[in-house]
Amino acid sequence: MLRVVVLGAAAGGGVPQWNCGCPVCRASRSEHPELQSSQASIAVSTDGDHWYLVNASPDLRQQLIATPQLHPRAGKLRHSPIAGVILTNGEIDAVAGLLSMREGSPFTIYAHERVLAILKSNSIFNVLSDKNVRRQPIELDEPFEPTLPDGAACGIEITPFAAPGKSAWYLEGSAHPAGNDGDGDTLGLRIRDKATGKYFYFLAACARVTDDLKSRLAGAPLIFFDGTVWRDDELIAAGLGTKTGQGMGHIAMSGDQGAIAALADLAIDRKIFLHINNSNPALLRDSTERKMAERAGWQIAADGTEITL
Ligand code: MLT
Ligand code: MN
Ligand code: ZN
Repeated sequence: MLRVVVLGAAAGGGVPQWNCGCPVCRASRSEHPELQSSQASIAVSTDGDHWYLVNASPDLRQQLIATPQLHPRAGKLRHSPIAGVILTNGEIDAVAGLLSMREGSPFTIYAHERVLAILKSNSIFNVLSDKNVRRQPIELDEPFEPTLPDGAACGIEITPFAAPGKSAWYLEGSAHPAGNDGDGDTLGLRIRDKATGKYFYFLAACARVTDDLKSRLAGAPLIFFDGTVWRDDELIAAGLGTKTGQGMGHIAMSGDQGAIAALADLAIDRKIFLHINNSNPALLRDSTERKMAERAGWQIAADGTEITL
C-alpha cells in the first residue's frame, strides 16, 4: 500500500506570503485561515514506519509538527521516521528544509548531480555531515529504490525524468555550479509501490506539456502537477511582480497551452494541482477559476491530505 501525505501545497512564499497583500494572502490572514498553506512537499511510505520526503520546504519544521506519521516513535530518545529526501530541483522552496534536519539523525538525500552540485557549492549545507547524511546521485530515466535505515531496499521504485523547466531562481544571471547544460535541473518523478504495482507522478515544476510527458502520464492512477499560476501573466496583471509563469519555469493551469487543456483526455484517474502560488484565483473556493478547474476534473491540493493507493 502506497501512502502519500501532502505536507504542503503552496508555491514558493506559501499562503500567506510574508510581504504580500494580495486578496488570497489577505483573506488567509483574516476571515479565511483555511486558505493558509505551506510550501510544496509530500511524504511517501509503504510500511508507515519509514517515510521519504519529496523536497524539503522551508516550512518543513511546521509540517513535521502537523504530521503525526513523521513524529519520532514513542520510547525513543532520538528518532525520525524520515529515511530519505528526494529533491526534484534546487529552488529554495525545495531544499531549504534540509537545514531543519541538521540535528544528527541519519537519512539519505537523493538528487540529480546538478542539484547536488548546488548543495556542495553552498557551505551552509555542510551542517549535514557526511557521517549521517548520505548524498546519492540519481540519473534521468534510471529507476532507483531508496534504502531503509538498515540498508535494505524500501520497496518503492522511483523513476526521475527531465521535466521542462529551468535552474533555480537565485542562479539566474550567474554560472550554475554544474555548468550550463540544463538537463536534470527540474525533475518529474514516477513513484511506484513494487509490491502492488500502484504508482503516481509528481511534478511540482513543469514549464510545458510535451508529447513525451503526455505519453508518460497517460493512464496514471494519480498525478500531482504544477499549479503555480492560473494565467501566465497573472503576477503582472495583479501588480504583484514582473515575471510570467513561463519566466519562472511554470505552466499555467488555463489557456490553450495550459495544463488543464494539455492533460485532458489522458485517462488519468486523479489529477491534483500542487505548488500553487498565492496569486492563483483557483485557491478561492467560490471563484470561477476554481469551478473551471474542478469541472475539468482537477483537485486543488490541501496541506495534510493523505491519499492511499
Ligand atoms: C519557483 O518554483 O519558481 C520558486 O520556488 C520561486 C521561489 O523560490 O520563490
Ligand atoms: Mn517552487
Ligand atoms: Zn499573496
